[in-house]
Amino acid sequence: MPIHPKPWTTEAAETLYNLEGWGLKYFGINAKGNVTLQPKREPEDAIDVMDVVEDVASRGIKMPVLIRFQDILRRRVTLINEAFGAAIKEYGYGGRFFGVYPIKVNQFREVVEEISDAGRAWQYGLEAGSKGELLAVLAMNSSEALTIVNGYKDESMMRLAMLGLKLGKKVIVVVEKLSELRLLLDAAKEAGVRPLIGVRVKLQTTGVGKWRSSSGHFAKFGLTTPEILAAVETLKAEGMSDCLKLVHFHIGSQISDIRVIKDAVKEGARYYAKLRKMGLGVEFVDCGGGLGVDYDGTHTAVDSSMNYNMREYVADVVYSIQEVCKQEKVPEPNIVTESGRSMVAHHALLVVNVFGSIETGATPIEFRETPDEHQVVRELREAIKGLNPKNLAESFHDGQQHQEEAFTLFKLGYLGLEDKAKVEHLYWKLCLEIGKHLPKAKFVSEDLLEMQKALNDQYLCNFSLFQSLPDSWAIGQLFPIMPLHRLTEEPTRRASLVDITCDSDGKIQNFACHRSAGGTLPVHNLDGKPYYLGFFLMGAYQATMGDIHNLFGRVNEVHVFKDEAEEKGYYIEETIQGQTVRDVLSDIQYSDFELVRMIKEAADAQIKSGALKPREAADLVDRYEAVLSEYTYVDHLPSADENKLLPGRAKTNGHHKPAEPVVP
Ligand SMILES: Cc1ncc(COP(=O)(O)O)c(C=O)c1O
Repeated sequence: MPIHPKPWTTEAAETLYNLEGWGLKYFGINAKGNVTLQPKREPEDAIDVMDVVEDVASRGIKMPVLIRFQDILRRRVTLINEAFGAAIKEYGYGGRFFGVYPIKVNQFREVVEEISDAGRAWQYGLEAGSKGELLAVLAMNSSEALTIVNGYKDESMMRLAMLGLKLGKKVIVVVEKLSELRLLLDAAKEAGVRPLIGVRVKLQTTGVGKWRSSSGHFAKFGLTTPEILAAVETLKAEGMSDCLKLVHFHIGSQISDIRVIKDAVKEGARYYAKLRKMGLGVEFVDCGGGLGVDYDGTHTAVDSSMNYNMREYVADVVYSIQEVCKQEKVPEPNIVTESGRSMVAHHALLVVNVFGSIETGATPIEFRETPDEHQVVRELREAIKGLNPKNLAESFHDGQQHQEEAFTLFKLGYLGLEDKAKVEHLYWKLCLEIGKHLPKAKFVSEDLLEMQKALNDQYLCNFSLFQSLPDSWAIGQLFPIMPLHRLTEEPTRRASLVDITCDSDGKIQNFACHRSAGGTLPVHNLDGKPYYLGFFLMGAYQATMGDIHNLFGRVNEVHVFKDEAEEKGYYIEETIQGQTVRDVLSDIQYSDFELVRMIKEAADAQIKSGALKPREAADLVDRYEAVLSEYTYVDHLPSADENKLLPGRAKTNGHHKPAEPVVP
């Protein structure tokens, strides 16, 4: 059944997958029906993503592959700096913008390097939230840009921050807990420096969405108002009022509603103004992160979206701080933001190959009606014959009852395997027939809707949800997913996506796509040729939070740069090999040397017992060793012929319709 009612065009594909909603014009579809990437948001500037995929394959780099479009990273950094520059000019604002990138959002060196480099003209800085991050940031950040240190800190981390100050870096340590102030002052005294101090305020304004617990009275970070006053007393007593440089707040990531951001900024700016009036030398208001990403492209205040854009965010931050400063008659501070997600989400695309499908009700063998078949089989046949648009629910309930009866009979030994197979086949046949009538039905009951979901295909995708999309599994985060090619052709199937882990949680049933009803994605028929899906906006938080569940490791990576001088308009700057089986085994304490030694012992024992010849044993050991060096993902795809021998209903790429049953 066509998914799109009008004649199919690539524009129809853009609408179907809501590219405009979530893609910020960085992505398009070209006349070949391939997804393109447009770092400057102009179609003339487009890179054909399938060119990159083919290039990658020709270099022997296996799927899945993460493509980083470095130009997009640079573009995002430019955009936020230009937006603040423009708003500051427009409002005649008295301070400057000093953005920092919180590296926790994506700590990969190449990402951090690219961002730092792109932001150099604006002294765009870095933020660290742990000892490891601080070590990286101190080395990578320039002396002109801010280095903001958040997170819980121990003595060693405070000393490290002071080391940075002595090296000439602008390190501002944000006090998250009152007890940290003492640690900081002691470390500064020991190092013989005057520290640059920030305080994180526990705002009363609470965030929205999945990270709302980052703010409010129960937040784990930040100082209450009495604690701030205590900190001020300490600083005054120590003659260090001038060292308090920054007021910081962060009400959570992915703030979907702009009103909440405005409220938080106004509240935070009030703290700045009051501290200023108390004689402290605060120069910066740090609004933290929270600038959202419109993952579902609906431009609404739901968790996976946002009801504003970057320009509006920037204008509201500048305007709100200015308003408070005017009322309080204090100088307008420099503005810091720690936007992470919005800087890096768009630059990374995971390319995944679909290597098969599971079709509900498909059967690898044919069933004939036989005179000796069980009554319950005949009753199911009757239910299918008697099906009409008026008795859909009744027929479904009959079918369910027959299936349950058959199950009981089988458990008690009264139903043979052949009849059991017929019952399974006929039950799904009945459901599929009912499913065909449902789109025209006036009323569809809950149980029929549930049944309809079970009828959808599942596409087997070569990736691990736990490694590559941990937020999808852990918090139900939505990511845009769509085919990367064949978009001149209407996608006529619907499928949920399953990964290759042995875990039933490893599936995706929520899509940022129009008409994704029933938890499915419109996809093309598998035709025996490679079929690629793109998982978009993967650049924020996923890389280091992913785990090696089932021992699927880090994926292969390529870094792509736009270059007009190149034939295809781009070049691959770098490829980073994903983890091998040896690498992930070593992560969990298996030494490849020891494993091979144990396998050799087993092989020797077989030689001694005469079960293997020495040559055969050596080949087996070689084979074992070779697998250690392989990529952890699926490589060999069974051919259609091999698939016929599979006992289940799985079909590999080379997809074909369920064999038409001979009966009923
Ligand atoms: C203190 C702090 N700053 C910045 C960020 C980055 O937030 P976002 O990715 O929403 O911009 C976070 C993340 O939650 C954070 O905890």
